[in-house]
Amino acid sequence: MSLLLIAKNRDFTSLKEAIQELDPNVDVEVWPRVDKKERVNFAVCWNHPEKVLGNYPNLRAVSSLGAGVNHLLDDESLPNDIPISRLITDSLQSQMGDYVLNAITNYRLHTYRYFDQKRTGEWKPHGNISKTSTPIGIMGLGEMGLHVATLLSQQGYKVNGWSRSKKELNGVSTFAGNDELDAFLNETKVLVNLLPLTEETDGILDLDLFKKLIKPGYLINVGRGSHLVEEDLIYSFDMDYLEGACLDVFEEEPLPKNHTFWNRPQIMVTPHVAAITPAKEAAKVIVENYKRAMSGMELMFEVDREKGY
Ligand code: NAP
Ligand code: GLV
Repeated sequence: MSLLLIAKNRDFTSLKEAIQELDPNVDVEVWPRVDKKERVNFAVCWNHPEKVLGNYPNLRAVSSLGAGVNHLLDDESLPNDIPISRLITDSLQSQMGDYVLNAITNYRLHTYRYFDQKRTGEWKPHGNISKTSTPIGIMGLGEMGLHVATLLSQQGYKVNGWSRSKKELNGVSTFAGNDELDAFLNETKVLVNLLPLTEETDGILDLDLFKKLIKPGYLINVGRGSHLVEEDLIYSFDMDYLEGACLDVFEEEPLPKNHTFWNRPQIMVTPHVAAITPAKEAAKVIVENYKRAMSGMELMFEVDREKGY
């Protein structure tokens, strides 16, 4: 029996050590060096090569190395009856809270403008944007979105939240389903995308949606790159539907050197770092789910394949 770690261009040394520290009996292999394919019972994947999972005939379960699972659901080589799980930890939520709060504060206090002005030695104050004139809208009220919405509300922001099913959340105005999407957008100035990537949400951040925000809006995309229609973002700046964006995820990662986003002053780019599970925390969930899978138990943070997240 073995547990296989699969990713392109990733150093798994600390994760492998953390897993073996928790349970020295777990035999951890790192792709592509697999001794015997038949021995692999559990795989942990991030940015894995297409169709690689079909090579392991005795897989009992697969885990994402992050919160998102679109890369696993898209893999046609993974049989439909193999359970999929994901990694959720307290620190993943708190990192996401820090990232979003920081992006909003930078927007309100014009941090990026001052960075640009420093380069040219320009002394030009811009009035800070108050919290009260910055209603936030969080798309997706799951493990990440609920935490971020609560944090922002505690910080004194007016917060709206949108999800598929209706939620009750102290200090947050909640909206549910496509019927309430427009009402949610109409009350939102800073839009934070924390949706999973599914057939329904692919390309959801488009011109038609930006048009409905309080103008000019601001976008923070920490979901997935394919949620955003990239050319619509640029067009939204030209139309004054949006005045800026902070993007952590992209259709193509790493973002190509010649991509137009690099040169747009309105866009802040970070290299998919909003929330990263530390090896020790990841190992705890992985070892627990490995044991559960080996004894046929339900996994922690198991994905609903029907819903796609
Ligand atoms: P989650 O717990 O699965 O929650 C997903 C939320 O989205 C739920 O509230 C769900 O509604 C809602 N939703 C799904 N489809 C919808 C639709 N069609 N219309 C309206 N609402 C919909 O996911 P999570 O753990 O919070 O993570 C969300 C995503 O964040 C991940 O999939 C990943 O892509 C991204 N992420 C990025 C980073 C990063 O570093 N950039 C780190 C972590 C996660 P219901 O509650 O009604 O089901
Ligand atoms: C990061 O993008 C994650 O899904 O955890």
